[in-house]
Amino acid sequence: MSIYLDHAATTPMVAAAKRALADQMDKLGNPSSLHMYGRATRKDVEESREAIARAVACRPSEVIFTGSGTEANNTALKGLHWLRANEKRNLVVISEIEHHAIFDPAQWLADYEKAEVIKLPVLASGEIDLAFLRKLVTERGNEITVISVMHSNNETGTIQPVAEIVKIASGAQIPVHCDAVQSFGKVPLSFKDLGVTALTISAHKIGGPMGIGALILQHGLEIPALIHGGGQEREIRSGTLNTPSIAAFAAAASDAASAQAERASFVSKLREQFIAGAKAAIPDLIVNGSGEQLPGIINLTFPGTESDTLLLLFDAAGVACSTGSACSAGVHEPSHVLMAMGHSQVSAQSSLRFSLSYLNSESDVAEVIALFPSVISRARAANL
Ligand SMILES: Cc1ncc(COP(=O)(O)O)c(C=O)c1O
Repeated sequence: MSIYLDHAATTPMVAAAKRALADQMDKLGNPSSLHMYGRATRKDVEESREAIARAVACRPSEVIFTGSGTEANNTALKGLHWLRANEKRNLVVISEIEHHAIFDPAQWLADYEKAEVIKLPVLASGEIDLAFLRKLVTERGNEITVISVMHSNNETGTIQPVAEIVKIASGAQIPVHCDAVQSFGKVPLSFKDLGVTALTISAHKIGGPMGIGALILQHGLEIPALIHGGGQEREIRSGTLNTPSIAAFAAAASDAASAQAERASFVSKLREQFIAGAKAAIPDLIVNGSGEQLPGIINLTFPGTESDTLLLLFDAAGVACSTGSACSAGVHEPSHVLMAMGHSQVSAQSSLRFSLSYLNSESDVAEVIALFPSVISRARAANL
């Protein structure tokens, strides 16, 4: 058996992206060069920018290519903070459930820029506590440099009330950055309609290559750069553009956009089948995350087990899944996301993430569910 259920970590490249990548590798020309080779490559970059802008409903000039989603997050959080910080305004607001690509730059701002960082708590559902944010903005809105909240969580798939957050922030003119890496291509996502100041997307979660992402940044807003050099990308992200990856990113974004609704409805059905089967097999399991969910992410807690053991047992049976949380020195840390939702360290460390895509089938789900009784009982025995 070989079943891949870790599509939230990365997913196979789609044919159109592979073709675009290969085509560009046969071309010559730095997109910043003025001669015909450079101009031809520049044209391909700008067409790719337009395709990505269409997929996320922004202006082409709002797309800034970066080397990853992580880089886009760092650029946005640090850049917006640097733009607005002064003696009276030095407070960075993120949520308790952000990816490390926001958590860690926020910590960096605390360590090196003496910023105060407040993490918004979440409800047991996994949704950000809006009442907490409302009170914070009312009391300390003029001290906040930036609010950064994710569009959906990478561990639980819970979709966040970003439009509400923007409404609360806009009363105090606070810019909002949104990490939409997991949502882009999976659920409808419109930069224009959300009204955020900045938005992060990444290619390898939607069938594009690894190592290419984009920051969508409101037209006309210039933020201090993280990387300095040749002044590419509105002088916010210097460095020769990675044309092959950009073209492949655009191809993947167009592919994802064209089939988004159809794939989402198929994957949601697989998710329902998975959860129903899992509950029938292991009645005491806990499904983490409720409210509005991404179609493909399922996070389950199996009381009396240990995540690393579960992962290895599933892997040995030919099923690739994830604990969803960060790994340090080969051991998974208890998930800060599940703990923010009220889990103890022990139950957070008894949890697994299965992430599905349209490439999976009903029979994949049935085969994996058939393994549950034996895998879970072996994991429980190993944990005694
Ligand atoms: C929510 C979220 N943000 C950011 C990232 C980082 O993106 P990248 O892998 O392109 O650096 C990931 C990737 O796992 C993610 O899930």
